[in-house]
Amino acid sequence: MTDIIKLNQIAEYADEEAIVEAWVLNIRQQGKKLAFLSLYDGTNELQATLKKNKLGQDFTKVEEIYRGASVRLGGKIVEDSRAPGGYEMQVTSFAVIHPSDEAYDSEVQPDSSTDVKLSKRHIVLRGPQSSSVLRLTSHVLKYLRQFFYGHGLEEVFPPLITEAQAEGGSELFEVEYFDDEAYLTQSSQLYLEAAIYSLRDVFCILPSFRAEKSRTPRHLTEYRHVEAEFGFADFDDLKEFIEDMIIHLIEQINTHDQDILALWDRTLEVPSKPFPRISYADAIDLLKTEYNIEIPFGEDISDAPERTLVEHFQGPVILEHFPTKMKPFYHKINEEDKTVTNSADFLFPTCGELVGSGERETDIKSMLDRMAAMNPPLDPNDYTWYLDLRRYGSIPHSGFGLGLERLIQWILNLDSIREATLFPRTVNRLSP
Ligand code: 4AD
Repeated sequence: MTDIIKLNQIAEYADEEAIVEAWVLNIRQQGKKLAFLSLYDGTNELQATLKKNKLGQDFTKVEEIYRGASVRLGGKIVEDSRAPGGYEMQVTSFAVIHPSDEAYDSEVQPDSSTDVKLSKRHIVLRGPQSSSVLRLTSHVLKYLRQFFYGHGLEEVFPPLITEAQAEGGSELFEVEYFDDEAYLTQSSQLYLEAAIYSLRDVFCILPSFRAEKSRTPRHLTEYRHVEAEFGFADFDDLKEFIEDMIIHLIEQINTHDQDILALWDRTLEVPSKPFPRISYADAIDLLKTEYNIEIPFGEDISDAPERTLVEHFQGPVILEHFPTKMKPFYHKINEEDKTVTNSADFLFPTCGELVGSGERETDIKSMLDRMAAMNPPLDPNDYTWYLDLRRYGSIPHSGFGLGLERLIQWILNLDSIREATLFPRTVNRLSP
């Protein structure tokens, strides 16, 4: 019996008969006797050549199908370097699994607007280019998990419905929780900090939600957040772990995913350790003196100057020691310079800030003072359990959060983060 195969197995069947099941990406008919189908089955592409003299009456079925139809084809596989995927099937049997409507062609075109493409994302996803983004994402998660487990971290699952904010108050999604008010999580950090008392080094890969009104190419309202927390680890341990993780990731992608990089015309250079680093204060100075960009001390370095910094260092750069007033109350105050925290953002080309990280404050008094000084102040009663972590045997600990879609955006140099996820959620997009 002839094997039914996936298109990524094609090479193993060169010069043999096989059956494939796939969708039709394109139909090209030449006269009444010859047709070419471009096929895609979610694993690879294949060109199929259909000839009337081989198919007889079944050849007429080609005239009855439209792009998007699912089909089952049988025939001989032959190598053809000109064909996408490198092989061609010389078809001897042809059946339609499910037809596609003629309207498919008018749904979305290569030159359709970004908005149309996003509205028709369920259709745009059918094809090697978009599929490669999802495949790379899946591989990247595998490499990250390998790295985490290889370094003794355990995966945990903090709740997504929370009682208190972890990051900025203005970016919270509120949800009704029976008679109470709750929030969708912005970060699992606070829960990871509790989990280290159970497992020491932990990670989670879960959605985070940010009610970001900003319509930038790097903000989603729901994104996948890769977070880790380390017990008995200081600021330097933390930065080194993140550097090693990025290097591992690039090495793995370079080894296993060259086909995907080629589709996006990308080559990745493995960054060397240590990444360049610059303090927030020095970055403000550098931007002013060398680029005439003035940022008042204590204000965020926004997208454009962030890009300038990345260009200045020609690659990833660690922006560290943010002023205490700029960062949430849980960031550890630096012992030598009390005006700054042991915090670090990792900036990358294309996506800007990829990682937010820091050593955690363990001095409960400092935390309470900073909570009270916030505008509006944070109520310590909302953080009782979190403050308990400082009451009962606190330890030096540090952690980070990395935005998965931003990581993919950087790796493939995507114009917008919306291309880096299955169905993006932004301030004005909830569908599909
Ligand atoms: O810098 P952030 O806000 O840090 C935290 O949430 C920490 N509590 C994480 C931790 O230490 N466990 O966010 C971390 C990362 C950013 O560097 C960015 O990559 C991503 O999350 N991120 C977003 N990605 C897409 N859309 C958004 N709106 C994002 N906001 C943050």
